[in-house]
Amino acid sequence: MASATAIAHPNIALIKYWGVQDDALNLPASGSLSMTLDGLETRTMVTFDKALSEDTLELDGQTASHEATARASAHLDRIRHMARSVVPARVVSRNSFPTSAGIASSASGFAALTLAAATALGLDLPPKDLSILARKGSGSAARSIFGGFAEWHKGEDDQSSFAKQIWPPEHWKLVDWIAVVDRNPKSTGSHDGHRLASTSPFQEARVASAPQRLAECRSALMARDFQRLAAVVELDSHMMHAVMMTSFPPLLYWSAGSIQLMKKIAGWRADGLDVCYTLDAGPTVHCITTAEHSSQVEALLRSDTGVLELFRGIPGPPAHLVAS
Ligand code: DP6
Repeated sequence: MASATAIAHPNIALIKYWGVQDDALNLPASGSLSMTLDGLETRTMVTFDKALSEDTLELDGQTASHEATARASAHLDRIRHMARSVVPARVVSRNSFPTSAGIASSASGFAALTLAAATALGLDLPPKDLSILARKGSGSAARSIFGGFAEWHKGEDDQSSFAKQIWPPEHWKLVDWIAVVDRNPKSTGSHDGHRLASTSPFQEARVASAPQRLAECRSALMARDFQRLAAVVELDSHMMHAVMMTSFPPLLYWSAGSIQLMKKIAGWRADGLDVCYTLDAGPTVHCITTAEHSSQVEALLRSDTGVLELFRGIPGPPAHLVAS
């Protein structure tokens, strides 16, 4: 039996990945940039065991669905193929955050699975290769291999599409207050959503202008200029949601609570607070703020009756191995 355990953190994209240029390889339509979130984590143990007849997956203490197990198993096949192994695996994975948080666990889940499975099979892969591998499980997982701020260059083929760290966590102590405003499960997950992006007439314009937004985001982060960061982060989130809303069939991820909170956040910023918002494929509002203004933003969010639950993420470490 060969076993390894890894921890990885989810990430919040400041410049989003939405749409694929190659379905099979999971090559994104455009580059993206994110902050890896400490305070939230997935811990995954992978054990390759000849006594098993097939792969098994336990998620948060329960046997996972057939669909989730098949997706993990397909990813394990990629890693087994590299290690020339055919041994089935038992995967036990636990998220520190509830599914009700509306935080995609696929980024931290596939980053942890990639690192744990590759290590258990004796593959000593550099972060770049782990990122390439994680990408094929879930695109955003390519970024969760790295800590701090990571940029995923879209690339043109399998070996050129991977993420890199652009700044370590200490570069800028931003805080992501994750505000749950709606607990209804979303109807279309991001995996299927990516495949619809090209049906929107706005996707071409979004993809064509993504390099400009990436450059602006990098430059605002470099200068630690919150006003510039806020403008580009909100614009990029709006552009992704405009594509989602105008896809066929349309994807409307915002709820009334999301819109109310976005408006309030814009008002708080106009009143002088460093705070802005970004939303992934769901109604949960990620409120990005600075360490200096974090407690004021937290107090405003806690006194808001539309906010059902609140989680905190700060720039965190890369995916790493831990003792089982
Ligand atoms: C809206 O990485 O979850 O969060 O590659 O199909 O697993 P798959 O999709 P996923 O998509 C993330 C989409 C997003 C934006 C982002 O994180 O960049």
